[in-house]
Amino acid sequence: MKDQPVILAVDDQPQNIELLEAFLGPAGYRVVPAESGEKALALVAQEPFDLILLDVVMPRMNGFEVLRKLRADPRTAYIPVIMLTALKGAEDRIQAIEAGCDDFISKPFDKVELLARVRSLVRIKAYHDKLLEYEHRLEIEVAHKTAKLQRALIEKERAYLETIYSLSRAAEYRDDNTGAHILRISLYTRAMALKIGLKERFTKVLFQASPMHDVGKIGIPDAVLLKPGKLDPAEWEIMKRHSVIGAEILKGSKVGVIRMAQRIALTHHEKWDGSGYPLGLKGARIPLASRIVAIVDVFDALISERPYKKAFPLEKVFEILREGDGTHFDPQMVKAFFDCQDEMVRITQQNK
Ligand SMILES: [Fe+2]
Repeated sequence: MKDQPVILAVDDQPQNIELLEAFLGPAGYRVVPAESGEKALALVAQEPFDLILLDVVMPRMNGFEVLRKLRADPRTAYIPVIMLTALKGAEDRIQAIEAGCDDFISKPFDKVELLARVRSLVRIKAYHDKLLEYEHRLEIEVAHKTAKLQRALIEKERAYLETIYSLSRAAEYRDDNTGAHILRISLYTRAMALKIGLKERFTKVLFQASPMHDVGKIGIPDAVLLKPGKLDPAEWEIMKRHSVIGAEILKGSKVGVIRMAQRIALTHHEKWDGSGYPLGLKGARIPLASRIVAIVDVFDALISERPYKKAFPLEKVFEILREGDGTHFDPQMVKAFFDCQDEMVRITQQNK
């Protein structure tokens, strides 16, 4: 409650207002006079009041109209209103209650009755104000805590992503020590997922899981991994094992991203016609994430220079990918890839 509650006294008879001031002033209330309904409405728009004493019979706008307007405005709807009335009839009282008044005081005023009713309603108003203030403080606190939690989550996610990239970079370090390949894979797969119209959640998990597709390379000896030139059949068998090794490294997780990463590691060299490795899966039996990674991984390998190979010209890369349509790659993925080929090239150029 404020130090001195403020009461708006609305009456077209100045002597009634003087009387109210004489009763209420010494009891610790500040009384603001209004000689008409219009004046009263103008004053409540400027200053917060703790109570309104409202005459019923006034020229132009009567007390009922003023009350209805007060109740219709959310800023004044909760100010308690006592109607000052000489009206005795039940009908008028019902009309006043319907208009939203909280209490009545009959004219001529009885000082004791007036003070008792004023005190009680001012106290209720003070509780109401306190409650509103508490609600407001609570809202601010909740917003503050939510923002803090949001920041912590973002930080956690960043740490999580950095861990994924570190693991993936460690695996690729020997033939790509910039880490650019794994970043490009994330960006290509996201572009593909958006083009295909996959759900936001899947796209996000794919973005995080796809860089781990080759973690199994960590288990492939240098002599095979970095051999300049073609691998012989025995070396090729060793190289193919990176898919199974990767799946072994990532197995047993309950986390969605790692589970997807494990599936991708195991099956990103499967081919649409069933001639891939290690399982020889065919068509839609190959996980969707792996069918996406398969095409962008080949694209990136062909377009990039590595210690043991030169980069292919862009037209040749596209030709090879088209040749793989329906044999190596899922036709839907080939279409999606070429639907966003400019973006793919941009990702390559911007992330060398
Ligand atoms: Fe691979």
